[in-house]
Amino acid sequence: MKPISLTVNGEAVTANVAPRTSLADFLREELLLTGAHLGCEQGVCGACTVMIDGAPARSCIALAVTCTGADVRTIEAFDDDPRMGQLRAAFTREHALQCGYCTPGMLISSYDIVNRLPEADEARVREELSGNLCRCTGYVGIVRAVRSCLGEAPPTMQVEPAFKVERDIAAPQAAPSAVGMPSDAAKLQQSFTVAHPADAVWAVFQDIEAVAACMPGVSLTVPPSNGHVEGQVAVKLGPIAAAFAGTAQVDLDDARRRGVVSGQGRDGGSGSSVRGEVAFTVADGADGKTQVDVTVAYALTGALGQFARGGIVNDLASRLTADFANNLQARLEGREAEKTEIAGGSLFFSMLWSFIKRLVGRA
Ligand code: FES
Ligand code: FES
Repeated sequence: MKPISLTVNGEAVTANVAPRTSLADFLREELLLTGAHLGCEQGVCGACTVMIDGAPARSCIALAVTCTGADVRTIEAFDDDPRMGQLRAAFTREHALQCGYCTPGMLISSYDIVNRLPEADEARVREELSGNLCRCTGYVGIVRAVRSCLGEAPPTMQVEPAFKVERDIAAPQAAPSAVGMPSDAAKLQQSFTVAHPADAVWAVFQDIEAVAACMPGVSLTVPPSNGHVEGQVAVKLGPIAAAFAGTAQVDLDDARRRGVVSGQGRDGGSGSSVRGEVAFTVADGADGKTQVDVTVAYALTGALGQFARGGIVNDLASRLTADFANNLQARLEGREAEKTEIAGGSLFFSMLWSFIKRLVGRA
């Protein structure tokens, strides 16, 4: 084994690797950065393209040991890059992908083209992209997408407010809690009813530790101070377990019984990161009950990013919301909240079961 030390996506990494380990295998299997795809594994298809010291390179034929001291950037590093955002939008607009297998490599090469050759004509774009093979699209859309970004300054990244809670909340106690949500962050909404008056429910929402105690999988590592929270969120989805350690800022608007929680965390085990904003409103409902509306915007990257798809997340969110509502109700009734973990075990098996049913052709 040989020691290596390099920078990957802005983070210093040291490891011991076998001399013949490719950079692609090191990135995918050791760092769990699976954005660089493997196709031919012999330097032909370009699916594994990453940036090494600012230039596109095939990670399947670069040995990890030769990358000591290098600055490596995989497609995961470009989530918030305005130029890459512009290219992603162009690829979508011009139908420049179908199965998407070649797309991470195509985007890295395209990023290099638009930055290095702003005056390239179609022939030059095709020549520059000739090291990236696509088995689906026929290249017309890809070339059109790249050309549409040539010569244009990258846009300033628009960070849309994730939801309609005004940020003029009374006396915010710390710097604005924006965590730089990307404009394409996933969003979902949940609502639930609690059989207690809104004032009593809002009193619980004002107590950060009480709210954390009602949230499945959440534990605080430091007592909250001025709305600043540090803690951990443990998630278990079938065989996958993750623990996101991070920080959040809670801003409350007592007059309107609204709040915003903005936070970010990272799971060291999987190398996954999450950023999210949660907005909630507590309002009088029918029959003396209280309606709580929650809007969540989140961006999950890294190995667990595959679980950020709508169906899975919506199902999990419904379960979490139901657990939170039950715990809140228990607290209001003076009962002990049942502290559960964020566990998608049954969800995992129900997904597996639906997959098997689809496989054998049952409804
Ligand atoms: S997998 Fe590296 S070039 Fe094909
Ligand atoms: S979109 Fe399928 S290989 Fe390019």
